[in-house]
Amino acid sequence: AQPGAPGTAAAQGAGDTGQEHPSLTVLYGSQTGNCEGLAEALGEQANAHGINARVLDMADYKPRQLKSESYVVVVTSTHGEGEPPDNALDLHEFIHGRKAPSLKHLQYGVLALGDTSYEHYCQTGKDFDAAFAKLGATALVERADCDVDYDDEAEAWCKTLIERLQNEAGASGMPTAGGVSAAPTTEAYTRRYPFMAEVLDNQWLNGRGSSKETRHIELSLEGSGLSYQPGDSLGLYPQNDPALVAAIIERLGLDADTPVTAGDIETTLAGALKHHREITLLTRPVVEKWAALSGSAQLTELTTDNAKLTEWLYGRDLLDLAEDAPVTGLDAQTLIETLRKLPPRLYSIASSQSAVDDEVHLTVAAVRYETEGRKREGVASSWLADRLADDTTVPAYIEANKHFRLPEDDAAPVIMIGPGTGIAPFRAFMQEREEREAEGANWLLFGDRNFHSDFLYQSEWLAWRRQGVVDRIDVAFSRDQGEKVYVQQRLRENAEDVWRWLERGAYLYVCGDADRMAPDVHRALLDVIIDAGGKNEEDATDYLRELTRQKRYQRDIY
Ligand code: 2AM
Repeated sequence: AQPGAPGTAAAQGAGDTGQEHPSLTVLYGSQTGNCEGLAEALGEQANAHGINARVLDMADYKPRQLKSESYVVVVTSTHGEGEPPDNALDLHEFIHGRKAPSLKHLQYGVLALGDTSYEHYCQTGKDFDAAFAKLGATALVERADCDVDYDDEAEAWCKTLIERLQNEAGASGMPTAGGVSAAPTTEAYTRRYPFMAEVLDNQWLNGRGSSKETRHIELSLEGSGLSYQPGDSLGLYPQNDPALVAAIIERLGLDADTPVTAGDIETTLAGALKHHREITLLTRPVVEKWAALSGSAQLTELTTDNAKLTEWLYGRDLLDLAEDAPVTGLDAQTLIETLRKLPPRLYSIASSQSAVDDEVHLTVAAVRYETEGRKREGVASSWLADRLADDTTVPAYIEANKHFRLPEDDAAPVIMIGPGTGIAPFRAFMQEREEREAEGANWLLFGDRNFHSDFLYQSEWLAWRRQGVVDRIDVAFSRDQGEKVYVQQRLRENAEDVWRWLERGAYLYVCGDADRMAPDVHRALLDVIIDAGGKNEEDATDYLRELTRQKRYQRDIY
C-alpha cells in the first residue's frame, strides 16, 4: 500500500492481521440511538467487505487520535437549535478549537441525520464537514444530510463509502456483491417494522378543572419479544386526523379513493394521507416542491430567506399551503411524492418492566392551539387523546436511550428534574429502584401549572415518599400564585443541599422541554455550583462538563 493509504493507520482494529485492509474509524454522535445504530451497521458492513472498521461513541474517543487516522466517518444527529448531541460536544469543540491539528493526511465522510422541520437542519453534520475540510482533510464521499426517514439514503451513502474505500485499497479480491443493507437485527420489531401494540388503558391524568390535558396511556407488548430499560423511549406511528385529510382532498379537488403508492405501500389517497404522509407540519423541501408546482412567486421568495420561512411555517399545515398557493390539476400520486413520510413520534417511557412486565406506560400531553383562525393539534398527541379507542392497536417500537440511564451503582443518589411530562422517565426510575431495593437516595423536583389538578401521578409519588423509596420531593406549581415559580427556583433555593448531594456523588437527570426549561435549569445548576460550591463561572462550567463526562448529568429533552 502507498503511504497513508489503507492499512497504514496507527489505530488498527483488534485482530488485524494484514497491512492490506483499510482501517476505518466510525464515530457516532447520538442522542436517541439512531446514529449509533447506523454506525454499528456501517461497521458491520465494512468488516464484511474486508475493511477493518471500529465503531466508537464520540465521547469515548480521544480527539488527538485524529492525527493518526487515515479514514474517519462521522455519523451524527443535530439537537435543538443546531447543537451537537451531548456525546459529540467534546470532539465538536476540539475540531473547532485552537488546538485542532492539521488533518491533511485524513480522508473522511459525514453522514448527518436531522429533521427538515428544524431551521438548523443537520447543523452538527455540516459543522464536522466544514471543520474537517478546513483542517485540510479530504472528503471521501460527499456529506449526506438525511431527514427523519433516513434509512434508504443512509444505506445508499454507506454503500458508496464502502465502494470508495475498496477502491482506495485497490483490493481486487474483496467481496463487492450485495452492497450495504440494513444490519441483521436480533429484535423482530423495529422502527421499520413496528409491533402492533394493543391499547390497554388511556386516561386523563389531570384533575378536574385543569387547563392541561395530559394522558396516561398503557400499551401491551405481549408476544412482541420487545424489552426496554428505564430511560428508553417508545416510538409510535400516529394517524392524521381524518377530518383534515378530507379537507385537503376536497380543497385540491381530488378523490379519496384514488389508488396511490407511498414508498412500497399500495393504498388509497386518503389512506396514504392518514397513515403515511406528514400533513400537519411543513418542511423546506415540501415548500420548495410546492412552490414549483404552484408557480407561486410569494412561496419561491420565502424559500430564499431562512428566518422568514421558519416564521411562516410555524403552525401552518398542508391545508394552509393548498389555500395560500393553489395548485391546479395536481394528481394524487404527485401529491404523495411531494410530501414527507409521516415520522414516528418518540415518548419517554413512564414504566419499568420489572414492575409492569410486558406493558409499557406513557405520559402524553395533548398539543392544541389556534392559528390563522383554525384549531390545530399535534398529530400524535391529539390522536392518542381523541381518536384512540381502548381496544385498538398502534404501531410501536422501542428506541433505546443509553444516554439516560440509572446509575449502575444502586447506592448512588439521584436528583430528578422533570416538570410536566418530563416526569415520565422518573416514574420508570422509581419503579425500577423500588423493585431493585436500591439504597441510593432519590430526590424529585417537579413542576406544573396547578397543584390541585396537575401533580402528575401524585398518589404514587406520595406513597413512595411515605415508604421511603423517594427521599425528597420539591414542587413548583407555576400558576397557583401571582408570581411564576419554576423548578429552577427550587434548585436555587436549595443550593446547599443540591451541592451536598452532588459532592456525595449524585446523578443529575433533566427531562422535559428543551427550548426554555432545560437551558434555564442548566443555568440554575451553574449558579448552584457557583454559590454553594464556591466556584467561579469557568470552574462551574468545567464541573458540569465533568459530570456529563462521568454520565452524572444526563438529559432527555424535547
Ligand atoms: P407555565 O406554563 O405556567 O409557564 C410544566 O409545563 C411546567 O413547566 C409548567 O408549570 C410551566 O409553567 C413550567 N415552565 C414553563 N416554562 C418554564 C421554564 N423556562 N423553566 C421551567 N419550567 C417552565
